Amino acid sequence: MALSARRRDGRVAEPRYHPAAQALHWVTALAVLGMLAVGLWMTGLPLGFTKLYAYTWHKWVGLVVLALTVGRLMWRWRHPPPPLPSAVVHWQAVLAPIAHWALLALLLAMPLSGWLMSSAAGVSVFWFGYIPLPDLVPRDPALFEALQTTHYVLSRLLIAVLVLHVAAVVHHDLLRRDGVFRRMWPFGGT
Ligand code: HEM
Repeated sequence: MALSARRRDGRVAEPRYHPAAQALHWVTALAVLGMLAVGLWMTGLPLGFTKLYAYTWHKWVGLVVLALTVGRLMWRWRHPPPPLPSAVVHWQAVLAPIAHWALLALLLAMPLSGWLMSSAAGVSVFWFGYIPLPDLVPRDPALFEALQTTHYVLSRLLIAVLVLHVAAVVHHDLLRRDGVFRRMWPFGGT
């Protein structure tokens, strides 16, 4: 949902994302960066307690990202994002929603492929040690390998789209100063 505000200089500021959408965005961003870092680190660990612990938390937090993304999609369905500032050039205005939908699709596909992979490996997930989650597929070593590759490829795609996303934010905020970043930033001026 868009929130407009009058700035101290009397001009009406560009509409911003609703605080709930901002909170969902930044919590997801932190979780996903942590997930990528832990994911890249843990696969190289030798077998042992640290690896087991890292894999377990990776799965638990990954499923939190899935829940947050479903929550964001439901929020977005009832509260469409505010229109882009008029200063944004046409091709960027066309590209922005494509990149955002690609990110949202990857934030669903990453945890789902992980959950499927875990099920195919025959390892059920007990979410945070308390909630038994259903296996999505029966144990199947060949499917496990295919899903492992899928999860790997999706993680590289996610990194590529995130790099694009951050580059676009830096471009808008530092070079063009067109107010795009402020729409999602919960702190500071209007
Ligand atoms: C946003 C969510 C997620 C992200 C960003 C993510 C990211 C990653 C990354 C970067 C890797 C390392 C890939 C590699 O370089 O080989 C990885 C591995 C792995 N992930 Fe995820 N992951 C997510 C969710 C999940 C979930 C929900 C599960 C399971 C329930 C899961 C299970 C695994 C497993 C088992 C591996 C190790 C695969 C192997 O040993 O080769 N992931 N993940």
